[in-house]
Amino acid sequence: MATPAAFQPLNAQSIQRTLSTKTFGRTLHVLDEVASTNTHAAALALDGAPHGTVVVAETQTAGRGRLGRHWHSPSGKNLHCSILLRAMPAREQQPLWLSWIPLTAALAIGRAVQVVANLKVSVKWPNDLLIGDRKLGGVLCESSGVGTAHATVIVGIGLNVNIRRDEFPEELREIATSLAIESQRPCDRTALLAALLVELETRCESLLAGHHGDILKEYMLRCSTIGRRVRIELAHGEQMDGTAKSIEVDGSLRIIRDDRTTVDIRAGDVIHLR
Ligand code: BTN
Repeated sequence: MATPAAFQPLNAQSIQRTLSTKTFGRTLHVLDEVASTNTHAAALALDGAPHGTVVVAETQTAGRGRLGRHWHSPSGKNLHCSILLRAMPAREQQPLWLSWIPLTAALAIGRAVQVVANLKVSVKWPNDLLIGDRKLGGVLCESSGVGTAHATVIVGIGLNVNIRRDEFPEELREIATSLAIESQRPCDRTALLAALLVELETRCESLLAGHHGDILKEYMLRCSTIGRRVRIELAHGEQMDGTAKSIEVDGSLRIIRDDRTTVDIRAGDVIHLR
């Protein structure tokens, strides 16, 4: 009997047959094992790889998360991919554009999951994908040469797809989830990747055309941080408690602190308090 699509290893031909993008994934590297798809994509970028190049790997031996964390990447279960962006706005618009890319990627993932797995995913600011309070996936964007003619951004996406609860390391078991856990059926990673790439491509084009307002509206609808009591963990171990009020035009998170002062957070780790 043939292996169901959900359990098939990733394969470049099947992915490309499923793609409906113009550019994203048309140059595609499917690897069994790599240290990190982001690092691999950055090396390809140095060698001149084109805009929209995608690297996807069955497993990563040194997968990286935000804030220097490790990303658990067991073989054959989940999605670990990186997309190379070269198309950028004019130099003066690059900082604003760059601040929206991670949030935009989170929206694309949220929509792709809804389309393919029929599950409702929210975004914890800036780009954690949640189902309920559990983490489904995340985004790690790494840029180089911004402000020059050779700027690149690598959008790295990690999504827990078919991993079972008992396959998570002990410390993640209660705080992470996967599509298979939530829907109680396996999910076809090829279909998910193809959906993700088309959703991301469309939003990247919109952002490039300067339609930040549309992305902001969509983000407000999907963001579960707004209206919540939050703790922000800033660099140097500093913490701040307050209520998340809104997302600002540059993608930052506006917090009203308990002393009624307002702070806009551009980078940090958010904890949703009860
Ligand atoms: C996070 O901490 O939430 C972001 C996780 C991003 C993980 C992905 S997996 C594919 C890509 N390659 C990496 O090394 N990291 C990102």
